[in-house]
Parts: sequence; C-alpha cells; structure tokens
Amino acid sequence: MPARVGDALADVDTPALIVDLDKFDANLARLMQAVAGHKVRVRPHAKSHKCVEIARRQVAAGAAGICVQKASEAEPFLAGGIEDVLVTNEVVGERKLARLAGLAARFPAARLGVCVDDAGAALKLARACDEADTRMDVYIELDVGHNRAGVSDPAAAVALARVVDAQPSLTLRGLQAYFGSAQHRRSIGERRQAISAASALARSARDALVSAGLPCGTITGGGTGTFLFEATSGVYNEIQPGSYILMDLDYAKNVQDPSWPTFEQSLFILTTVMSRRRDAISDRATLDAGLKAFSTDSGSAMPAFPGWQVRGVSDEHTVLERVGDGPELALGDKPLLIPGHIDPTVNLHEWIVAVRNDRVEQVWRVDARGAVY
Ligand SMILES: Cc1ncc(COP(=O)(O)O)c(C=O)c1O
Repeated sequence: MPARVGDALADVDTPALIVDLDKFDANLARLMQAVAGHKVRVRPHAKSHKCVEIARRQVAAGAAGICVQKASEAEPFLAGGIEDVLVTNEVVGERKLARLAGLAARFPAARLGVCVDDAGAALKLARACDEADTRMDVYIELDVGHNRAGVSDPAAAVALARVVDAQPSLTLRGLQAYFGSAQHRRSIGERRQAISAASALARSARDALVSAGLPCGTITGGGTGTFLFEATSGVYNEIQPGSYILMDLDYAKNVQDPSWPTFEQSLFILTTVMSRRRDAISDRATLDAGLKAFSTDSGSAMPAFPGWQVRGVSDEHTVLERVGDGPELALGDKPLLIPGHIDPTVNLHEWIVAVRNDRVEQVWRVDARGAVY
C-alpha cells in the first residue's frame, strides 16, 4: 500500500492515485442534485473507477446500481455487495458467457444484466444461462451514433427482441442507447443535437417494440458529457455517467456552460521529483511517474499547477520543464498531476488513496483492476 490511514499527503509513497475527498463528495452530490426531479434512475459507470468502495458510496448517494463493461469487472462488485449490475456491453465467447452466467447463479439475489446485438449471440447467452440454471436481464443495444456496437434500426431491434423474449432464461428489459462519441463534443450545442437525434431513434425503437407486444421498460445510456439531455429527453429513464466522480483533462476540454453542472477534478497522481537540473541549458524536474502510472491516449497527465510543462513521458519518468511563474520544485518534492483520461489510468493502479485536508482518510483497493475479460 502506498499509504496508511492518518498519514500526511506528503508521506504517501509515489506514484499514487490520490482522491481529494471534498471534491469527490461534491461530485457525488452534484450529479444527484442535477437529475433530482427528473424521472431517471442513476446507474453510474464503474469502468472509470473500478473500485467497490466508490460504487458503495454512489449507491448510498442514491444510485440504483452500477454499470461495468466486462463479465470479469462485474465479479468484484457483486462480491462486494452491489446488487444491481449491468454489463453495458456484448459478451461473446463460451468462457466469457459461462463466467457471466456463473455470476448470475452465484449471486441469485442480485440483478445482473447484459447487452446483445446479435440473435446468435443471444441464443448462446440463453444456453449458458440454462446450463448454469439461472436467468439474466437483457438489453438490446441500439447504435445511436457511436458506431461501435448495436443494431442499427428499430426493425432490427424488434427482430432481436423477439429472439430474446422467446428464451425462458432471458428477461428482456429494454434498450441500451449510449452515444459515446457525443460525450466529448466540445460545445454544449453539439452535444444537445447529438442526444436529440439519439433520443429520436431510441423513441422509434421503443415504439416499435411496444407495438410488437414486446417489453421495453428501460432505456439506458448517457455519460458525463450528455446525461442531462438523456434525463430530460422523455425517452431515457436511466443514465450511466462514469467520469463525473473523478474527472480528467479530456473532460476539462469540453466548453463550460452555465446550464451544465460543473464536476471538479478529484483524482490526481502524486509523484516525486527524482532528478532536478537547473543551469544555463535546462530548468528541468524529472518525476517518478510515467507510462506505467498514467495513460496518454488522451494526452499526457499534466501538472496541477502553473509554470511547468510536460516535455516528455517514458515508462517510469515524466520530464517537466519550467515555462513561466509557478512553484519551485526541489528534489524530493511531491507534485500532483491531473490525468488525461481516468479509466485507463486507474486501471494501472492497485490503490486509491483518499485524502481530506492533506491527511489520508482511507485507502481503497482498485478491485476490478486488470479485469479485461
Ligand atoms: C456504455 C457506456 N456507458 C457509460 C459510459 C460512461 O461515460 P463517461 O465516463 O464519459 O461518463 C461509458 C464510457 O465509456 C460507456 O462505454
């Protein structure tokens, strides 16, 4: 463990993920306030934090359950007492299906759901459930613009829903209509427009299912960049924001708008200055955190303070260069970085150190770390 309860922040070993609990608590409350009065269930996505303790806090704050992306990710949350878990993804392959059905059998009091976009895959899921003597909730995934997975139109949704509904071990719950790439469209107008189109398609699919006599109780989707549009669409009745609780630089690039709730950066990477050069050629501080401590798919992690810029990132190092006024950095100092993209960054760590007023209040395990199956 990088820290013990009661340690000062300055004594936490590095590199370490740090959660600022005041900001975390504010984000937790802000999401629930933002959707209060709208008729939607909140089902936060746990792929961002992979941490049972965070999921418990989300449920305690009013979440109906959580989302995960993989069968292996579902396992620690079910074992940790989260009783409503939706795999917001297709699960393909016999071993994976057996694992998923095995989870439903092992946690009969919990509600476990999964998405499908193919009739053959739905039949294999049903067979896996039959073999495990269990049942599973199923959502038809509708592609509302993300171009990743999902059936493309209402007629295809009805055809697939008929197959699902005919399987005694599957319970058809409704639709997943998640528009991932809309989350980071920078202006609020672009995001509103994207979800307006997604809602129209989801509405048509729902109406087609209902006309065909098929159940469609839930329409789920929406992330940190768009959830208010889904919540007020009159179509979606469940939202799935994940990043809001920790946040990252990619989300910080979305243009702020007064009508949109502000979530604070609550996750940081604590590092140590392990080499320092200050001469006529270079004013450089090298940190002990690199590609093994944060992802760079959405750009490098950046200093959480002014005056320094990232000049290079390698496996175990990040080189900062002074570019203006900012704090002095000395050997052994412990500067904070802000992650570019939380999900793959958290996945690199075993622990999250929860800090309030510069004191370690708790240390949380990243329970679903590395759960990639
Ligand atoms: C299906 C699904 N729902 C919800 C989310 C949460 O999105 P965000 O972390 O941007 O809030 C994701 C993230 O990739 C996702 O894949």
